[in-house]
This record gives sequence, structure tokens and C-alpha cells, in this order.
Amino acid sequence: MDINVFEQMANRYDTEERMELAKVIVKEVRQELRASKTKSLIDYGSGTGLVSLELADLVDTILLVDSSKQMLEVAKAKISHKGITNAKVLYSDFTQETPELKSDVVLLSLVLLHIPDTKKILEELFNILNDDGKLIIIDFDKNDKISHPKVHNGFSHEELTKILSEVGFKSIEMKTFYHGKRIFMNQDAAMFRLSCTK
Ligand SMILES: C[S@@+](CC[C@H](N)C(=O)[O-])C[C@H]1O[C@@H](n2cnc3c(N)ncnc32)[C@H](O)[C@@H]1O
Repeated sequence: MDINVFEQMANRYDTEERMELAKVIVKEVRQELRASKTKSLIDYGSGTGLVSLELADLVDTILLVDSSKQMLEVAKAKISHKGITNAKVLYSDFTQETPELKSDVVLLSLVLLHIPDTKKILEELFNILNDDGKLIIIDFDKNDKISHPKVHNGFSHEELTKILSEVGFKSIEMKTFYHGKRIFMNQDAAMFRLSCTK
């Protein structure tokens, strides 16, 4: 999807439907972060922070990274309104610039489908992870009912697992955890959670 689309929709991004879906994702990701109190987390493609701002109590620090300034403006306003002291934002696109950053955990929630070159972004994220660092991906299962020139129509478990191993990730675990009505471009769809380590 064109990044400008996110710039334009930032102030109306948090709809009831998106907030409901974010709750489902938050519940799933919180389980992954149970023993992470001392860890740094990068929420890549954070949007307005619907997911990661609900994880702030579980980790040491959170960096919300997005290539849309407007989405980050909304996230910043929430951080200050909620009085969250361990979260910051960074305007960046790691497919365009290599960041000088390190993190213990990287989260991608509904972002991979918007990035054309899957392997390239996974390589960049591999490089910013500390040794033994963890990557968590939430996205949609492959869905043949969807066809859009700028959005992947979900991911097959085999294909994504293969790309992650080629990049160097280990202990890859992937499972479908939710089926919802009209949650992916107005179609019924399933979401997966994937976790792997560097
Ligand atoms: C569907 S939203 C998901 C937001 C949030 N992660 C959530 O689950 O609510 C996708 C976000 O990814 C961002 N994005 C898309 N391509 C990106 C890229 N190459 N680098 C960084 N962010 C990107 C968009 O600006 C948008 O905020």
C-alpha cells in the first residue's frame, strides 16, 4: 500500500474494528513477552501504537518506528496522554536506510504485508537484533480471495519459514491463532503469530 495512504488516514486509523483486532493481537503478543521485563522492543510499522502501547508494562523500553509521520504524531499524543515513560517514536523506513540501532525484540504487526520485498526487510531486522534476539510477526495467512497490487495477500507458512531460515533465523514457530469476519480487505481471514530467534 502507498505509504501516503497511511499519512492520510492517521487521524482516523483507530476505528472500532481496528481497536478490536488490536486487542486480539495484544493478547497473543503479551504471551510471547512474558519474561521480557529487561528487554528493549522495537515495534516496526507501529502505526498509532494500537498494539505496542499496550505492551509497555512488559518490557524495559519501546521504540515505535514507522515510515508515516502522521501515524507517529498520533502515537506520540497517546504516549503523552497515557503518561507512558518508556516509549519513544522514530520516523524511519528500514527498507530505505540502514539504522544504527540494536534491540532484543522486534515486533511486526500487520506490516509485512505492506512491504514489497519480504526478504530485504527481514534481513534488515535480523541485523538490528541483538544475539539471541527475538522477532515476532503477526500477519494474515495466505488468502486467495484477495488481490491487490501493493499488498501481499497474506503469507503461506512454508514460504515465510523458508525465507526466515535463509536469512538466518532459528527456532521458527508459526501458528494460526485467530479467524475473523471481514478483517482483511473486507474478507474473512486468519491471522498467524510467528516467533523466531537470531
Ligand atoms: C496496517 S498498519 C499496522 C499498524 C500497527 N502495527 C498495528 O498493528 O495496529 C501498517 C503500518 O506500517 C507502516 N509501514 C508500511 N510500510 C512501512 C515501511 N517500509 N517501513 C516502516 N513502516 C511501514 C505504515 O505507515 C502503517 O503505519
